[in-house]
Amino acid sequence: MIEIRNLRKKFGSLVAVDDLSLSIGEGEVFGFIGPNGAGKSTTMKVLACLLKPDSGSAKVCGLDVNKDGDRIRRVLGYMPDFLGVYEDLNVDEYLQFFASAFRIERRRRRAVVDSVLELTDLTAKKRAPVDSLSRGMQQRLGIARVLIHEPKVLLLDEPASGLDPRARIEMRSLITELARMGKCIMVSSHILTELGEMSTSIGIIERGKLLYAGSLDDAFARVRGQERIAVGLEAGPVPPELICASLLKDARVARVDHQNGELAVELAAGEHGHHFLLEALLASGARIASFKPEVVKLEDAFLKLTTGALQ
Ligand SMILES: Nc1ncnc2c1ncn2[C@@H]1O[C@H](COP(=O)(O)OP(=O)(O)OP(=O)(O)O)[C@@H](O)[C@H]1O
Ligand SMILES: [Mg+2]
Repeated sequence: MIEIRNLRKKFGSLVAVDDLSLSIGEGEVFGFIGPNGAGKSTTMKVLACLLKPDSGSAKVCGLDVNKDGDRIRRVLGYMPDFLGVYEDLNVDEYLQFFASAFRIERRRRRAVVDSVLELTDLTAKKRAPVDSLSRGMQQRLGIARVLIHEPKVLLLDEPASGLDPRARIEMRSLITELARMGKCIMVSSHILTELGEMSTSIGIIERGKLLYAGSLDDAFARVRGQERIAVGLEAGPVPPELICASLLKDARVARVDHQNGELAVELAAGEHGHHFLLEALLASGARIASFKPEVVKLEDAFLKLTTGALQ
């Protein structure tokens, strides 16, 4: 549904998107993750035919962004990071306006608008002025708007930004619901945890380059290979420096730091179990007060992925 090959987009001398390739299939939710300025919005704008690529190709449903802009606009719903302000319109009028802009027949408009209001849980706000809506409601209205012409592909640029925790959960379930309806969805964020649960695959972008694309599980498996274990030591006859030195003789130990009687042991990539480390500690003469393998958290995984640990 989305096929990008060696895409490059420059603004002056700044390369905003650099040799980016990815493909997203039907029913997929692709989480596009990267820090500020990484190139997420630029990539989406190219797909939405709002920016011309400098080189490479981008296709939506097999249609080329360079040639088939009009046809792409019919199958694609793009929700930008900021909703334009339309003063003096209420929610219903706002959606009716877009329904007519998309040339939906007059007699079908009422039903179409009602169904997107229902789906985005805005029916009760039908008569409310657009500029009186809370941020979360505005984001839902933004989604309602891009659903009006029943697009197959959705590009949602940071739909959860500025939302409170509950509104984020609601946004997640709305996106999951849309995926269940068979839409292909590309959704951006700079927070991995926000997209992790609902994405079928993720892509991590930094400074215009795609560092990783694949399933979240694969991303984790790679990061999990570099496990850390915190070992608390009781004072004993063997100084921590010697304990560290003897642990490092084992090839399964990549690195050991110590501070205030606490060791941070980083294991080499791969599955090793922990038993060998306990044995090595005892053999070194360490007196073990505690032994805590650290769980790899999503945020840590993201940091490792974006600091080039996987390149
Ligand atoms: N119209 C423009 N003119 C000049 N530079 C631009 C323009 N749009 C984007 N850029 C630059 O391109 C780079 C990528 O920006 P982009 O908006 O794609 O990042 P992003 O990943 O969406 O970031 P954010 O998380 O902040 O939304 C940035 O360095 C930005 O300053
Ligand atoms: Mg952006």
